[in-house]
Amino acid sequence: MSTPFLNADSMTGGYGAADILHACSLSVDKGEIAVIVGPNGAGKSTAMKAVFGMLDLRAGKVTLGGEDITGLSPQQRVHLGMGFVPQTHNIFTTMTVRENLEMGAFIRTDDFRETMDQVFELFPILHDKRNQAAGELSGGQRQQVAVGRALMTKPTVLMLDEPTAGVSPIVMDELFDRIIEVARTGISILMVEQNARQALEIADKGYVLVQGRNRYTDTGAALLADPDVRKSFLGG
Ligand SMILES: Nc1ncnc2c1ncn2[C@@H]1O[C@H](COP(=O)(O)OP(=O)(O)OP(=O)(O)O)[C@@H](O)[C@H]1O
Ligand SMILES: [Mg+2]
Repeated sequence: MSTPFLNADSMTGGYGAADILHACSLSVDKGEIAVIVGPNGAGKSTAMKAVFGMLDLRAGKVTLGGEDITGLSPQQRVHLGMGFVPQTHNIFTTMTVRENLEMGAFIRTDDFRETMDQVFELFPILHDKRNQAAGELSGGQRQQVAVGRALMTKPTVLMLDEPTAGVSPIVMDELFDRIIEVARTGISILMVEQNARQALEIADKGYVLVQGRNRYTDTGAALLADPDVRKSFLGG
């Protein structure tokens, strides 16, 4: 079996005091959608930060395309093709939508207009609102700005921490459809979701994290069908 495109193996670490992650492993292959679910405080966001290089790991290893990136900074990881949309503070509220997307392209030295057009194609509302301050947008529209901003670097891996937080069920479905579209272009998606059932429905692979540990790992369909997972984590 070959190593998955993005592979986080046995990550252990935290914010200085006690460890939050305990041998936590996550992986996603090209064009796949991997979904992380679990209770509040389980360490889902911490695991995402660790994969993105925002946490000092005491143990464990992260590889991208077979290359060991464990020691690299988030900036270096962006250069290697990782895009990350954090759970909070993921847009510049006083800047316009267009400026947010331009900020997303900060590492690019080439012409990024084509990518911006692709983002506008994916999220047409952002084109309509391109000259409006991002802070004036609705929750769902802001999340589109955040995802669009991350896409501006043309990532090979897109990491999303609760992209549907605070949006209505309809907007959630639409966002998931867009995420599937992005994955179909070959981009790997690693995302945390509070809407566990719906997210696992679109997941090639799912992880249930509890107290910083992998509790269940399987295909999205298998987790949805597992009575124990359903009872404990999906509301029956
Ligand atoms: N910056 C920080 N400094 C210290 N401890 C933190 C920090 N961020 C998170 N923690 C702690 O790490 C643990 C895991 O938090 P984390 O945010 O990773 O959980 P989560 O699974 O993403 O939760 P939620 O579903 O609420 O987003 C919690 O106990 C939290 O208090
Ligand atoms: Mg979180």
